[in-house]
Amino acid sequence: MSLDKAKVQELIQEFTVSQKDLEQTAVNFQKDIEVGLVDISKSTMRLLKSYVGLPTGEEKGDFLALDFGGTNVRALRIRLLGAGKFEVLSKVAKPLYVPGQYDFIGPDAAATDLFDFIAGIIDEALAGDHTTPYKLGHTFSFPSSQTNLNNARLIIWTKEFATKGVEGEVVNDLLLEALQRRGVGNVEPVAVINDTVAVLLAAAYKQPDTYVGSIYATGHNTCYLEPHVAGEDKPMILNMECGGFSRLQTNRLDDLLDKDSEKPGEQRLEKMVSGRYMGVLFGMALGEAFGDKTGYGFTSIDMSNIVLDQSVDKSQVCAIVKAKAGQDIDVEEAEYVQKLVAAIIRRSAELVTSTYVGIVRHLAENGKIKKQHVAVDGSVYEKMPLVQDEMKKTLKALLPDDYEKVDTMLENGGSGLGAAIAAAMAE
Ligand code: GLC
Repeated sequence: MSLDKAKVQELIQEFTVSQKDLEQTAVNFQKDIEVGLVDISKSTMRLLKSYVGLPTGEEKGDFLALDFGGTNVRALRIRLLGAGKFEVLSKVAKPLYVPGQYDFIGPDAAATDLFDFIAGIIDEALAGDHTTPYKLGHTFSFPSSQTNLNNARLIIWTKEFATKGVEGEVVNDLLLEALQRRGVGNVEPVAVINDTVAVLLAAAYKQPDTYVGSIYATGHNTCYLEPHVAGEDKPMILNMECGGFSRLQTNRLDDLLDKDSEKPGEQRLEKMVSGRYMGVLFGMALGEAFGDKTGYGFTSIDMSNIVLDQSVDKSQVCAIVKAKAGQDIDVEEAEYVQKLVAAIIRRSAELVTSTYVGIVRHLAENGKIKKQHVAVDGSVYEKMPLVQDEMKKTLKALLPDDYEKVDTMLENGGSGLGAAIAAAMAE
């Protein structure tokens, strides 16, 4: 089979978003926030209350942090020193899924097995210390409804997680029971936050002028400090769950991917932009270009490596396509493949940035955009080639008069630090 280059051109067109459509996305996103604040049933996002505002930077003490939101779970002991400083005292990380060995996140896994495994990781981070009392902050990166800082109830799994018996449950109850089963009585879970909230807390602990926190990784989501939350007298961080934003123009492949996913109809923005799905979209597109409708198992890391191949013979591109699609391609075909990958990455970065613009405009006072940083964590933002450049270009295009006031800033590892800060703020 050879690569149909005209088809690749067509596919690139399908993944290209005009400046007008990007502007419309920013406008729709801002509207979705503003109608949602009044009546959440009118928004395609959730705008979930976090029951926490921004830290002062002076929070202090030793805390346990649990970071549960992707295929790796981490437990950390963190010492907050105040003045925006901290130390990681210990850290244990383990995957929840090892092919051929165990799987705590698939549809055959049960809640007790999952939480017993997590309790084991916490125990390891404690190095057998079952006496020193610890407050635990839990970064739980799935849509959860709360009525206080600690009682997060999982609304629905996202990112293709499917463990039975967790949806509808209060996650820290499941965690506490597992800790008790394991004989870890000195750990008290006191706070649950979304990873976006963790990023914002971690960034704001160190740096003023930060009101927006975002994850751009396996999944995608953003939170921000809302000055006026109904029924609250103080500003509060809202977890938007904007991976579910859907006032968007999807293309044919987006719709096919959605139909085949664990949760059709949900997380439409996330399925267009995040690392979990970009490789799938690329595999489907390449399948069409080879006239093979099966699609291939590419990952976002493959996509990065494809873009990064600057060699004359495009040996890396050819090798990746051979390994994943079983096809031999020549140099010219490899260049088409690179362009296709670039188009998918570019669209992702543009869409994500247009949502940031929607938030920044919503936060403007009397139409005046504040000088601020948007804190972002995640492998796609941090490591994927083209992403940060495209984000800068999009900020400039959508905020021609204000782009110098707004920048994105990497908040690396914020999930652990943010959980510790939330535990401190719970006191
Ligand atoms: C998914 C989750 C969301 C999380 C994001 C990033 O979108 O629903 O809660 O913040 O992934 O991990």
